[in-house]
Amino acid sequence: DWTLDSIIRAATDQIRASVGDERVLVAVSGGVDSSVATALVNRAIGDQLTAVFVDHGLLRQGEREQVEAAFRRSLGQRLVVVNAIEDYMDALQGVTDPEQKRRIIGEKFIRIFETEAKKAGSPRFLVQGTIYPDVVESSAPDRSKAQRIKTHHNVGGLPKDMQFTLVEPLRYLFKDEVRAVGEALGLPAELVWRQPFPGPGLAVRCLGDITLERLDTLRAADHIFTSELTAAGLLNRATDEPDGISQAFAVLLPVRSVGVMGDTRTYQETVALRAVTTEDFMTADWARLPYDLLARTANRIVNEVAGVNRVVYDITSKPPATIEWE
Ligand code: XMP
Repeated sequence: DWTLDSIIRAATDQIRASVGDERVLVAVSGGVDSSVATALVNRAIGDQLTAVFVDHGLLRQGEREQVEAAFRRSLGQRLVVVNAIEDYMDALQGVTDPEQKRRIIGEKFIRIFETEAKKAGSPRFLVQGTIYPDVVESSAPDRSKAQRIKTHHNVGGLPKDMQFTLVEPLRYLFKDEVRAVGEALGLPAELVWRQPFPGPGLAVRCLGDITLERLDTLRAADHIFTSELTAAGLLNRATDEPDGISQAFAVLLPVRSVGVMGDTRTYQETVALRAVTTEDFMTADWARLPYDLLARTANRIVNEVAGVNRVVYDITSKPPATIEWE
């Protein structure tokens, strides 16, 4: 595809022209945009790039392994994976307020990123995966302010007190073009087609106390739900394909209820399933999922995930609800 080739060539030329022979830093989150931006910059200037991936323990099942699989071969030691799980668990202990969670996670990310930037020789350039709709949205403050009622911390959010010159190779691309570029650069499909995932990760889907055990429970339930949706061909599709689910995930509720397992009474927590369709994430409708898919998912979660004995499906639209529960 010559247009794709020319997009990639123009972007890599532009990156080379702007950074020269200086060092460049990028924060990879595992999301589509930061991954494609990383792959593009790596193609353009290779060994001048250091990529930092922070594992805060709030990732989905297999996510860290997927990022390593996608980038280890091309980046080698220039991919720095920071295991900050204990650090984040300590900081989040006893914190249940959603905005406080976001604040803690965002601030901790900046501190860790600063440390890694110093280790990498304090590069002057920072890659950001800003895409065209982000540019448009931030130049239309009325719309975004009115509808955005949560502070958004993207992993990779820019440390305000650090002086970086930004490199934004996706600035003129729409989402589908970003995915096409990612595929052309050889990124794995599960990364390129992945649904959006909030910067604070599972922290805003683990209601109540955030513990390693509850996060594992949530991860297992979420994995069952998304696998069932993927197997049914309903998840991770192009935005112009009809009938696709825009975002789907599990939420762990700090609500215990009575159940029965064999001859035994159980008293365990609840998983809520959320699946929405939306054009722009500003408004959304709950997805009319097939009953048999919901039934299979609920059965599997209760049978396979320890600590959960009840599954509910969220049938509120946005507004009045939001997509995430926090
Ligand atoms: P809500 O829950 O506000 O979510 O309807 C709209 C979209 O934004 C995502 N989201 C976030 N993304 N940091 C992010 O990077 C955040 O703190 C955050 N909170 C919500 C959400 O997943 C949905 O796609």
